[in-house]
Amino acid sequence: MKTVLEMISEKVSEGFSRCGYEASYGKVGLSNRPDLCELQCNGAMAAAKAYHKAPIAIAQEIVKVLAGDEDFSEISAVPPGFINISLSSDFLAGYLGSMAGEDKFGLDTSSPKKIIVDYGGPNVAKPLHVGHLRAAIIGESVKRICRYMGNEVIGDVHLGDWGLQMGLIITELRERKGDLVYFDEDYTGEYPDEPPFTLTELEEIYPAASARSKTDEAYKEAALLATRQLQDGRRGYRAIWKHIMDVSIPDLKRNYDDLSVEFDWWKGESSVDALIPGMAEDMKKKGMAYESEGALVVDVAEESDTKEIPPCMILKSDGASLYTTTDLATILDRMNTFGPDRIIYVVDKRQDMHFVQVFRCARKCGIVNEDTGLDFLGFGTMNGKDGKPFKTREGGVMRLEMLINDIRAAMLKKITENHETDPEEAEETSRTVALAAIKYGDLSNQATKDYIFDVDKFTSFEGNTGPYILYTIVRIKSILARYTGSEGSIPLAIKKPETEQARALMLSLTKFAPTIAAAYEEIAPHRICAFVYDVCNDLNRFYHETRILAEEDREKKEGYIALIDLTKRILETCIDLLGFSAPERM
Ligand code: ARG
Repeated sequence: MKTVLEMISEKVSEGFSRCGYEASYGKVGLSNRPDLCELQCNGAMAAAKAYHKAPIAIAQEIVKVLAGDEDFSEISAVPPGFINISLSSDFLAGYLGSMAGEDKFGLDTSSPKKIIVDYGGPNVAKPLHVGHLRAAIIGESVKRICRYMGNEVIGDVHLGDWGLQMGLIITELRERKGDLVYFDEDYTGEYPDEPPFTLTELEEIYPAASARSKTDEAYKEAALLATRQLQDGRRGYRAIWKHIMDVSIPDLKRNYDDLSVEFDWWKGESSVDALIPGMAEDMKKKGMAYESEGALVVDVAEESDTKEIPPCMILKSDGASLYTTTDLATILDRMNTFGPDRIIYVVDKRQDMHFVQVFRCARKCGIVNEDTGLDFLGFGTMNGKDGKPFKTREGGVMRLEMLINDIRAAMLKKITENHETDPEEAEETSRTVALAAIKYGDLSNQATKDYIFDVDKFTSFEGNTGPYILYTIVRIKSILARYTGSEGSIPLAIKKPETEQARALMLSLTKFAPTIAAAYEEIAPHRICAFVYDVCNDLNRFYHETRILAEEDREKKEGYIALIDLTKRILETCIDLLGFSAPERM
């Protein structure tokens, strides 16, 4: 279905043609002065130069041939040469009526692509902390938007499960329980099924090891050696690695589940280990990779670079793989198994350089096709109210679980203060609203920017917040429930707007498809938030100015109900794309 701007642009372009001008001058955009008109065309100004005429004269000619068109309630020429347009009530009602009946409200979802969204990136054996929150929230929304646009999309968690943290854990375990069979190199039997640690122990082992490695050189060396031996296939270490995975992954899944974040693939850095030797060989054969101080590297600098882009390291001098290596092998694996047209990475923007190197190297070495899109959506830092990276009250790294629990508790308090509710329902509702508070608080900011995680602001029922959005949806649900309770089914026919507020709401709703398309084009969920906020404000203004259920004119009342029902459906679709949902009551 065409967007309103496309339809009206066509009409105005035809007007330009009929008056003897190039049709392309008829492009129409949203008005810069919504107080004067809804849409505007600035083409007469550009045409004036080409045709050596006064812009206002051209605008007047166009207005003359288009005046009386039933799609416009008004079209006028305004000095110096603007064409101001407002839509007729019939047009709006007809357009929204079509939207209501179309799949995805008329959004054009042709030309599907295969897309992988790489987000999450948690490191096994380390608890999820707030740093992982943004990847999960933004990535999940990006994945859902890509999918809604009709693409075939895979979300991959891409676990950090092959690096130094594994060697650190093995080393620390050896210090503590050196007589475990895993450390006996002569052992050839089966290893136990039971892991030699619990999740709680594991979560204590890693930070202890990490801290010690920073001051104890020999210990760090041992951890590096253990990492390499693990990668080289030392049996006992692989067995420990498997235990670490078995203990960590269910916990990670539970955490992501709590956030309504769902991955299609649970692959990780380790999954592509077997591809590395062949990949490195191939890079050498192609003459791209060469040895430099014992390490294998690929030059990725380009002439136009304004800052230095160091060579991409493929193998360290001891043969160990690096973060770049596993990312490159992962691209190779993805191309082999799924053949994506595009891979989108949602990762902290401080990893910008890493991805510049990886992307360039992948292209240079022919790991991807020329037209395979590689996008890095680097997000900013989540800060506390003091403007510094979000910490616990004691100054430690905030665990994700704690943060979510804090918000839930704040929400539960508000909900139970508001009215009497069944404790179980209140608990459930507080979870739903807390998730909206956290996700909307994040997504309403442009992803690349840092933002301040402000619990009071995010949990407020007023302003540009998740709870305000949900509150608006719940308000509609309650009106609709009362309507169906007394009158039966929801009427479908959208009627002409009766009031200024109904008109504003309708006009906002027409922007659904262009908003989703722009959010996809720009990989920008915040576009959807801005749309949702506008619609909610319009809905609430309409609600305050209109007697909906008390309206006596049956026709009018049915029109109102159809309109708010469409509003609800659109809002629910949008919040689903943002990754949360609305409760029945609040
Ligand atoms: N595990 C990494 C980290 O915590 C993030 C992984 C991001 N994804 C990727 N394909 N490199 O920094």
